[in-house]
Amino acid sequence: MSFRFVREFLKSPGTVGAVWPSSPALATTMVRAARVQSADFVLEIGPGNGAFTGPILENLRPEARFLAVEKCPLLAETVSEKFPGARIVVGCATQLTAHLKDQGNPDSIVSGLPWAAFGDSLQDSILKQITSSLAGHGVFASFAYFGPHRLRAGRAFRRKLDAHFREVETTPVVFANLPPAFVYFCTNTIQVDR
Ligand SMILES: C[S@@+](CC[C@H](N)C(=O)[O-])C[C@H]1O[C@@H](n2cnc3c(N)ncnc32)[C@H](O)[C@@H]1O
Repeated sequence: MSFRFVREFLKSPGTVGAVWPSSPALATTMVRAARVQSADFVLEIGPGNGAFTGPILENLRPEARFLAVEKCPLLAETVSEKFPGARIVVGCATQLTAHLKDQGNPDSIVSGLPWAAFGDSLQDSILKQITSSLAGHGVFASFAYFGPHRLRAGRAFRRKLDAHFREVETTPVVFANLPPAFVYFCTNTIQVDR
């Protein structure tokens, strides 16, 4: 358990969005859903204290590239210290295309973002950046807590995924996570003009 993670949650609950980091079981499900093992370039958004970062790096092919974009400077520092050599930048998911300038398009985007804590326009802005950045054959994967996904906000977010991707699939629920969660994995982007 990362003390820094909990402290950053208490300071900025609307940005960090979860008190506990994701479990190793959810990280394994995420890595599979995001097809990390066959990816050329993995982009992670919102690594937090690195719950997904470690398993991503362990499963990355030696020639594949990795970049993480984390909004909170302290958490970016934590994850850089844990995984020296991994490229972690402090930045916002609303600026993905700028962070990716001259680097090509990731074919796997892993999100740890707390979508439920975001307003409508922030969700739209980040999803637009994701669909503009993802390689044509790429996959976008993001977790959601099981239960809240059936509430109004959760259903609205699912509709947004359906509006941005032709295919939206879900993994089985991972009960070995607090709270239980599953992963959306989405392919075939639709460019939404807003
Ligand atoms: C729920 S935590 C998830 C951390 C980790 N991936 C996990 O699953 O345990 C969400 C993370 O997203 C980061 N974050 C929130 N909004 C962001 C944004 N707009 N751009 C980049 N990172 C953001 C937070 O600072 C936090 O580290």
